[in-house]
Amino acid sequence: MIPESFIQELLHRVDVVDLIDGYVPLKKAGANFAACCPFHNEKSPSFTVSPTKQFYHCFGCGAHGTAIGFLMEYSGLGFIDAIKELAHRVGLQVPEDEGRRAHDGPKITALTEIMARAAKYYYEQLKQSGKAIDYLKGRGVSGEIALKFAIGYAPDGWQSLGAAFEDYTIGELQVAGLVIKNEQGRLYDRFRDRVMFPIMNQKGEVIAFGGRVLGEGEPKYLNSPETPLFEKGREVFGLPQARAALRDKDMAIVVEGYMDVVALAQHGIGNAVATLGTATTATHVQKLLRQVDQIVYCFDGDAAGRKAAWRALENSLEALPEQKSIGFVFLPEADDPDSFVRRQGTEAFERMIAQATPLSEFLLRELSAHCDLSSAEGRARLVAEAKPLLARLQTPLLRLQLVKRLAEASGFSQPEVERLCDLRPIARSAPARVPRQAPSLLRPLLRLVLQKPELAGGLPLDALPGNSAEARALRHWCETILAAGDPTPSYATLLERLRGSDHEPVLREAAAELMQQPFAEEDIDVEFEGAVKRLLEGENKRAFAVLQEKASRLGVAGLSSEEKQHYLQALSTRG
Ligand code: UTP
Ligand code: MN
Repeated sequence: MIPESFIQELLHRVDVVDLIDGYVPLKKAGANFAACCPFHNEKSPSFTVSPTKQFYHCFGCGAHGTAIGFLMEYSGLGFIDAIKELAHRVGLQVPEDEGRRAHDGPKITALTEIMARAAKYYYEQLKQSGKAIDYLKGRGVSGEIALKFAIGYAPDGWQSLGAAFEDYTIGELQVAGLVIKNEQGRLYDRFRDRVMFPIMNQKGEVIAFGGRVLGEGEPKYLNSPETPLFEKGREVFGLPQARAALRDKDMAIVVEGYMDVVALAQHGIGNAVATLGTATTATHVQKLLRQVDQIVYCFDGDAAGRKAAWRALENSLEALPEQKSIGFVFLPEADDPDSFVRRQGTEAFERMIAQATPLSEFLLRELSAHCDLSSAEGRARLVAEAKPLLARLQTPLLRLQLVKRLAEASGFSQPEVERLCDLRPIARSAPARVPRQAPSLLRPLLRLVLQKPELAGGLPLDALPGNSAEARALRHWCETILAAGDPTPSYATLLERLRGSDHEPVLREAAAELMQQPFAEEDIDVEFEGAVKRLLEGENKRAFAVLQEKASRLGVAGLSSEEKQHYLQALSTRG
């Protein structure tokens, strides 16, 4: 396997125009270069090379590809050999990662096995420990839920794990963070006399532990250190246990503590996960938003919880694609989700979640709270403080929404707010134009995202109508872009990623259209916003039609309260 990053670097270093020109002399033709196609017989040049997008396309025979593809087709090289050849040309060394992988592999597996064995041992010890069982019972945790989360107990001894491992001295136990070597070289268990919460990855493998003292004591929770298995800020507690509920509810509730997740599960609320005492990171948000459309943060009602909510807001902004929503729940001062749900019950908790404060409202409310909006200075300060936050947003629609609300709150006009925040003005509606010939929105959207991959994050994939080849290709293309983890991936790199996929033909066609008629750089954002707007309008119409049908069948009383709200709202905006 050649690493993705290497292919990316290679395509970045090689110039496809230079490369091809060495085999087939190219002539400038507008923004592109052209020649008679080397892959079929022709009299007039239809073989075209794009210097900006770094790919070639023949309008005669459909040959299409990157620099790597060209060498493969022209010289008949295999993929790996084409890469070696290109690397040689630009003086790059092809990394040999096979060896390293083979070396890393067993280590990770060995650590995973060790963690699994330790978790099993702690779980068995729980059954032997009356005081640990009493502690959990006292906190309302049933045996069933203890099993679901594989909660355990680390006995009160210096080398208890010696009972679970044949050789207590193996280095892996220390690497796994279970055993500590002191300055005298003595080995001892990290976790002693604690209730153990295994932290698992998506696959359900134990990667770390959090251990709570029974009752009072410092630290209240002792956690595994970072290890090759466990990187703080990436993982959440309760993910594999929440999987089914996340899918059912299409929403994740993010809380602060282990016991919050456990208590919520105990009360039938299975879609909660915890951030493990660290701030919510953009990685957390991305990870969760891959599985659900909505995140609701429900932190403790104290000052620390509010601060955590603000951090979560900041870190959500850049990870927030359009169509996904983020909400905040603020618990009563002395509560955390655990105490709240135990005192007030499931329904009360769910009501609060349903009434979560939307991100835009929380943002504005917090900023307004320390700006005196009755003075001109205060209103200017509001806009100034919003500026860095708006800059983090990748999504034009949410940005527009916030700009509108900022304008209302500050008394500045929308364009003024945009100017003060250095935002490029966002067109309120796409400029009037002759109706397009293609009735489908998909082809233009595909071309837009091909030309400017950064737009992918702003495309509401769920609103894409139908299951046509184009819709599927567009979805796949956007997912590839988002997965690339590079804000501005090149067309050529992405094309290499999709080598051999079913979507290649549609993408090739759209890329070829783009080659002949690219969007003007200054129009592309407006074009895109217009297309997304039309897409969402179509989606709203469809959603409304579904509600209308249901309402006519069952009467308005047959709608859930949420549906009713949407339905009435839609009716009223329809005039
Ligand atoms: P809290 O102090 O809010 O604890 O810490 P909690 O979850 O309500 O704990 P209980 O209900 O008293 O058992 C929230 C989270 O912060 C991390 C843990 O992940 C905890 O669940 N934390 C807290 C630590 O890592 N170490 C600590 O000493 C305290
Ligand atoms: Mn608590």
